[in-house]
Amino acid sequence: MPRTHLTSVDDVPDRGGWLCTVEESDGSLREVVLVRLADGIVAWKNFCQHETDQKLYREGVGTVMRDGGIVCPKHGSVFDAATGHCDNGKAAGSTLVEVDVTVELGAVYLTDDDVTFDHAGPADAVDGDDDDDDDDLPDSTSHLSF
Ligand code: FES
Repeated sequence: MPRTHLTSVDDVPDRGGWLCTVEESDGSLREVVLVRLADGIVAWKNFCQHETDQKLYREGVGTVMRDGGIVCPKHGSVFDAATGHCDNGKAAGSTLVEVDVTVELGAVYLTDDDVTFDHAGPADAVDGDDDDDDDDLPDSTSHLSF
């Protein structure tokens, strides 16, 4: 099975997640967040099931985790980080969209036939700009003061 190296397991924080962008089969870009579990790594497409334009991983914040769950920042529904399922709040009864990844020898690989790796970081980052120096990019979440 073809696979693409994404990052090392050590680069996926215990809290906050690790973000990358994949290309869907229709050519669109989609953010994916890797989340560390007690026994491995799981990958979810970075949007809430209640309102699909709501990201779960936000720049500068990451993914908010609580009691083994991913908290939606908009209405507070909590998705089980391991299964993606939500049984509470406005997203109750829904499940996050999983992306297949595999961990081997401390590295995380994308193994999902439906998407291809595009770049590390958010979808609006410049290709290849995955070195965390986002100070040269427009920051839609910045708060300007004069
Ligand atoms: S947008 Fe996520 S729970 Fe409403």
